[in-house]
Amino acid sequence: MEKSLAAVILAAGKGTRMKSAWAKVLHPICGQPMLNYPLQAARQAGFGKLRVVVGHQSKSVCQRCAATDIEWVEQAEQLGTGHALLCAAASLAGFSGDLLLLCGDVPLLRTETLQQLQAFHAREQAAVTVLTAEMPNPTGYGRIIREGAQVLRIVEEKDANDRERQVQEINTGTYLFDAEFVFSALKNLKTDNAQGEYYLTDVVAAAVAAGKTTRAISVNDPTEVMGINDRCQLAEAEALMRWRINTGLMRSGVTMIDPTTTYVDASVKIGPDTVLHPNVQLRGNTLIGENCILETGVVVVDSMVADGSHLKAGSAIEESKLGPECLIGPMAHLRPGTVLIGKNKIGNFVEMKKSILGEGSQSSHLTYIGDAEVGRNVNFGCGTITCNYDGAKKHKTTIEDDVFVGSDVQFVAPVHIGRNSLIGAGSTITKDVPADSLALARCEQKNIEGWCLRKKPKKS
Ligand code: UD1
Ligand code: CA
Repeated sequence: MEKSLAAVILAAGKGTRMKSAWAKVLHPICGQPMLNYPLQAARQAGFGKLRVVVGHQSKSVCQRCAATDIEWVEQAEQLGTGHALLCAAASLAGFSGDLLLLCGDVPLLRTETLQQLQAFHAREQAAVTVLTAEMPNPTGYGRIIREGAQVLRIVEEKDANDRERQVQEINTGTYLFDAEFVFSALKNLKTDNAQGEYYLTDVVAAAVAAGKTTRAISVNDPTEVMGINDRCQLAEAEALMRWRINTGLMRSGVTMIDPTTTYVDASVKIGPDTVLHPNVQLRGNTLIGENCILETGVVVVDSMVADGSHLKAGSAIEESKLGPECLIGPMAHLRPGTVLIGKNKIGNFVEMKKSILGEGSQSSHLTYIGDAEVGRNVNFGCGTITCNYDGAKKHKTTIEDDVFVGSDVQFVAPVHIGRNSLIGAGSTITKDVPADSLALARCEQKNIEGWCLRKKPKKS
């Protein structure tokens, strides 16, 4: 019979030291709410039944971290970690097998560590296995009291005597339990301790009293089990996670000129031979192809950039899709809904929004293109503006293939420009232009000969 696996993640605590209006587990690390990391580690280690115990701001936590494989459990009052797990008992009624317990504020725990914990727990046939760490300064943590391999009990800092406080092996708050045993033991917990709480840690002594095997396994890297309690630790965890993401990307073939100043969310994917310069930020659901260059100060959010594109310094790209071999910036702004089919050039101080540009079309300088559908090989002169907004509604500009737009042109939308036409510089286009036409919409030039000799003011 296949042994089923369940995980309970505790996330009901308030996180007082964050000094925040938000629930602690919603604070992001590399673009993801902190809680998503233990959830993901549990999933990847094969724990299919996921329960999350929520209390403070439970509504916003459930909303932000929603996933179909999670069952949410409410702990209305935070009476301690033992009480928190007990709250999940009803949702796991009838479940027997390995029960993993994680804390929502321990985001750096690796999947491999959970797999090692599980293999050890199975090999030792333990009822309780605690994941521990050797800490040079164990202050604040529960201490592991052993007799050889058997863990006799866990003593909280506030309940420990001087000798117990010397122990450097600490409880990380991560455990594997025999589910049936732990739920029966939780029912007998007492609150006769320094904090007057139901301590989950007391189930260890209960297991020993019941003649069960209790074990502890130590993590190799103690930074993995770091708990986030304040914003300094949040920044520390972010830096560690950033390093993990960046080393993973560099090993897969991405060049980073300075990985300490390169900010890539956990969700981002990047192809090999792409080069990221310092201070690049890639956020959210972003995909960067192969052989791209992203210069300093480039920010890309929820966008796709295809192979061979070059994003020059200071360009910002949001919710956009760029085909191959685009040349963007410096200082270009592509706002949501921008689609560049490929081989497009968008130069400095060009802003685009909700517009599509066919292959090879370009706009090299100082232009606004909004709500426009533009064909192939269209050239926008410097200072072109699509006047898409009449104060009440947005209107569309359509420009067919091979149109040449002179400098300083305004398209007062809605307007349609036929293929292969030419718009004279300085024109304000308010009417549709048929294909193959020259459109001029400006005053004809008048020269008054000799005027300057007669009228031009003289310098005194
Ligand atoms: C706990 C352990 C301690 C361990 C430490 C590791 C106990 C009694 N002590 O102490 O041995 O060294 O974690 O970080 O378990 N929570 C709830 N509901 C509650 C109380 C807590 O959901 O009623 C959640 C918190 O949101 C947090 C986690 O449980 O995610 C740990 O709670 P916390 O109060 O931080 O426990 P510690 O006192 O640090
Ligand atoms: Ca804690």
